[in-house]
Amino acid sequence: MDKRAGAFARLFEAVHEGVYIGTIGPDDSSTIAANPHLKLIFGYASDAPDDGVCPLDRSRFVDPQARVALLERLTTDGSVNDYLLRLRRADGNPVWIELTARADAPAADRSLRIEALVRDVSERKKLDDETRDIYHQLLQAEKMAALGQTVSGVAHELNNPLATILSWAERLSQRTTLEEPVRRGLETILSESERAARIVRNLLTFARKRQTTRAMVDVNQVVRETLSLRAYEQRVTNITVIDALAAGLPNVFADGHQVQQVLLNLVINAEQAMLSANGRGILVVRTWHDPDQESVILEINDDGPGIPDDLQPKIFEPFFTTKEVGKGTGLGLSVAYAIVQEHGGRIRLESRPNVGASFYVELPVTGAKLSPVPAIRAPEGPVAAVAGASILVVEDEAKLASAVVDALRDAGYLVDHAPDGEEALKKVQAEAFDLVICDLKMPRMDGMAFYRMLSAAAPGLAKRVIFVTGDVAGTDAEKFLEESGCRWLAKPFRLGDLLRAVREGLD
Ligand SMILES: Nc1ncnc2c1ncn2[C@@H]1O[C@H](COP(=O)(O)OP(=O)(O)OP(=O)(O)O)[C@@H](O)[C@H]1O
Ligand SMILES: [Mg+2]
Repeated sequence: MDKRAGAFARLFEAVHEGVYIGTIGPDDSSTIAANPHLKLIFGYASDAPDDGVCPLDRSRFVDPQARVALLERLTTDGSVNDYLLRLRRADGNPVWIELTARADAPAADRSLRIEALVRDVSERKKLDDETRDIYHQLLQAEKMAALGQTVSGVAHELNNPLATILSWAERLSQRTTLEEPVRRGLETILSESERAARIVRNLLTFARKRQTTRAMVDVNQVVRETLSLRAYEQRVTNITVIDALAAGLPNVFADGHQVQQVLLNLVINAEQAMLSANGRGILVVRTWHDPDQESVILEINDDGPGIPDDLQPKIFEPFFTTKEVGKGTGLGLSVAYAIVQEHGGRIRLESRPNVGASFYVELPVTGAKLSPVPAIRAPEGPVAAVAGASILVVEDEAKLASAVVDALRDAGYLVDHAPDGEEALKKVQAEAFDLVICDLKMPRMDGMAFYRMLSAAAPGLAKRVIFVTGDVAGTDAEKFLEESGCRWLAKPFRLGDLLRAVREGLD
């Protein structure tokens, strides 16, 4: 061997790049030379005979179509540069490689003699994929924010008519002399408008930050409680539940009810998917602690139909549903996504068709700051009125105002109405009231301005104001309610809740 040939041979043996010389045809390939690094990439021993190493054989391509395309390119262009391929190693595991190759003109049987450099880029590909994932997550978050604004606007518009319908239906259904069909009709109106109110609430939860009350929450406890809510339903529908809840899980700083809502939405989705595909199912709920991320992870796994790849990017979008009208609104996952995001966490899906789906919810052990305004929530049941008390209702929405006014009169109160803050101030100066129910958002003088004037004019009464409002989270109104310490009710509300708040306000 002359000196040059010796130097080339040493380079061939030592270089940290796969070198391949051989022939590749439509049906098979044969190897003339393969260097040790190439063998390493493909998982062969470094002293394996060269002709047994056939990285470009048909069986080595994860996607057979990719081999056809490569041959075409080599035939037409005579070369490829940094050509990305997914090939199989000797043990069958896939590896991403970049191929830079030169080919002679094709022989009669269309086979090509090639000299190629091969680089293992699996690590880089993994990083690229991760970057792309993060990019998609950002994109998703932005899309959600834009949609959220539109959606919350629509939801707000629906609040007033819904509150009116609910109030009327509730009042009418309390009459004792109703004919049967009327009573049934009213009950339907009541339950359907409650359903609509729930959807609106879901929309607002998804669209904006809601009031949350966070505390240190035992996720395992939330899981147990949520599963017990579903236990009966699951038993009768042939769903088996297996839980694997890690012992010694740290508590997370979260809103327990919201975490429960997330879990419930995921569990119900899984049940629906398994039942509609197989009429039965196995649901696995797991929790564990990830000390690296300082997070708690919750997995909800089902053995249902899974979610096809092309639908996976869509499922978290509001109103995306594959269920028939009336069965799903497509909000479950949007709400779950919004809640998990607000908690500084992540939600992720892994699914293979016909094997099932796994949703992973990851919650940081230490969460964001606490929001202190409590919403008024009270148990159901009739509330006795405070005899002779007089109430001023300040509400610009005429229909809602009259529903509220009438309901309070029915309950035994003396009631007056003002359509805005200015009118209300005049009335307050002319007459004595025991309590004011006031909308926050009104034309001319809004609720906040009215409250300030009232505090100066009649400080005693200012302590007895109940505000009624749509979603306030993240607005000036939230700060105002927090600072003034006033009672408030979120629209649409139940009459029972209003009467209870009035009763408490008068005490
Ligand atoms: N575990 C699952 N298995 C298969 N498909 C699922 C699963 N979870 C969600 N999906 C798909 O994602 C879609 C969106 O789910 P999402 O919970 O947001 O809405 P929905 O269940 O259709 O309606 P809603 O929850 O408002 O009643 C579903 O319609 C379904 O196609
Ligand atoms: Mg759902």
